[in-house]
Amino acid sequence: MEYIAIEGGRRLSGKVCVNVSKNAALPILAATLLTGEESKLEGIPPLLDVFTMYDVLRQLGAEVREEGKVVRIWRSDPTRFEASHDLVRRMRASFLVMGPLLARHGRARISLPGGCAIGSRPIDLHLKGLVAMGAVISVEHGYVEAKAARLRGAEIHLDVPSVGATENLMMAATLAEGTTYIYNAAREPEVVDLAGFLNAMGAVVRGAGTDVVRISGVEELKGASYRIIPDRIEAGTYLLAGAITGGEVVVENAVSHHLEAFLAKLREAGVEVEVSGDSIRAAASGRPRAVDVTTLPYPGFPTDLQPPFMAFLTLSEGTSLVTENIFEDRFRQVDELKRMGARIRLQGKVAMVEGVDHLTGAPVTATDLRAGAALVLAGLAARGTTEVRAVHHLDRGYVRLEETLAGLGAQIERRREPADAKVPQLEPVP
Ligand code: UD1
Repeated sequence: MEYIAIEGGRRLSGKVCVNVSKNAALPILAATLLTGEESKLEGIPPLLDVFTMYDVLRQLGAEVREEGKVVRIWRSDPTRFEASHDLVRRMRASFLVMGPLLARHGRARISLPGGCAIGSRPIDLHLKGLVAMGAVISVEHGYVEAKAARLRGAEIHLDVPSVGATENLMMAATLAEGTTYIYNAAREPEVVDLAGFLNAMGAVVRGAGTDVVRISGVEELKGASYRIIPDRIEAGTYLLAGAITGGEVVVENAVSHHLEAFLAKLREAGVEVEVSGDSIRAAASGRPRAVDVTTLPYPGFPTDLQPPFMAFLTLSEGTSLVTENIFEDRFRQVDELKRMGARIRLQGKVAMVEGVDHLTGAPVTATDLRAGAALVLAGLAARGTTEVRAVHHLDRGYVRLEETLAGLGAQIERRREPADAKVPQLEPVP
């Protein structure tokens, strides 16, 4: 069992090149099932979530070959339609194969994603949309079974602009008969990037990035080569790593307009932010100013950066209100931050963060990916040693986080528990 040990108090400075976006890569990987032809994707990062999606694709009869920086995928066995519980429970986004399978083969059997560490996260909107397109769906023995002779275009109104539902339905609609409209669609950059890939495959998807997406069904799709957008959440995490230590970090290969709401808050907190082409520089000195943050669907402040931003605000001068509107249980970093000396009070979906002048290192446990990132950031700024356990959560979304931070001057390393250590019980990975 591994953990990350951090000796806090080092000022970080330097450059980081941002990886390809995990959350854009996952649906795009699922979309490769829409054709039997080969697709080529460049620069997909070696993350646990990506490997899980490769396993799902292989289970569904795809060949996945990593050749240097390029991954080649084609479906050599189009007779397999089932994604098992073992894989889907590891990662909710596995459910994104439902739309492509149903669209291309008229059938799919996918395990229900089940519970999740950051709230219940249902899939009702995915299923309602597919039913509107003519699918017959049953849920039995923990699996969602869907059938349709051929999906047909439909007008779908999402109750909330779900990213996953927008993506699943967009993929399903590419091969449907007629035109599909998705109203109240998610506008996230990852949705736009998926539309870009689908269009490169020969689909007709218009309006991605607005709240109405229109998809005109075509008879078939072909393989495509595609470059996926950079990871805005990874970029934001590294900018915060610099800022929380009073340092200066430049992220390269970043798209600043994907991060506007976040950068505005960083500036409001007193951090100097400078954008130049595809690089963003954030320089901080002293304690941040308190600022209020409210998570919202894009282009609002991203929920995935809420826990890391909260870690930053624990050291602010004054009191900040952090409101989480997307997920109902996304304050799981709070108890752990408090163990490091943070002063935070929770009331429903609002956290009141009263800034302190320093944190102290402590043994803490990551409960999910972004909560884990928050604890690492807090550890970078804290006095003394912080040990972050359950690092497999971090490996889902950051490529060797500790090595990148060490490259910026942090004193941080991954260690292995001694064989006889008492290891805390881990929850299953959501
Ligand atoms: C994606 C991201 C995740 C991010 C989230 C919100 C991926 C792989 N993951 O997750 O990192 O935090 O967007 O930006 O891209 N909901 C329903 N019914 C549904 C679907 C969703 O009620 O059928 C609700 C959820 O419970 C949640 C809200 O909608 O409250 C947003 O969820 P959604 O946008 O679907 O998140 P994901 O696609 O799972």
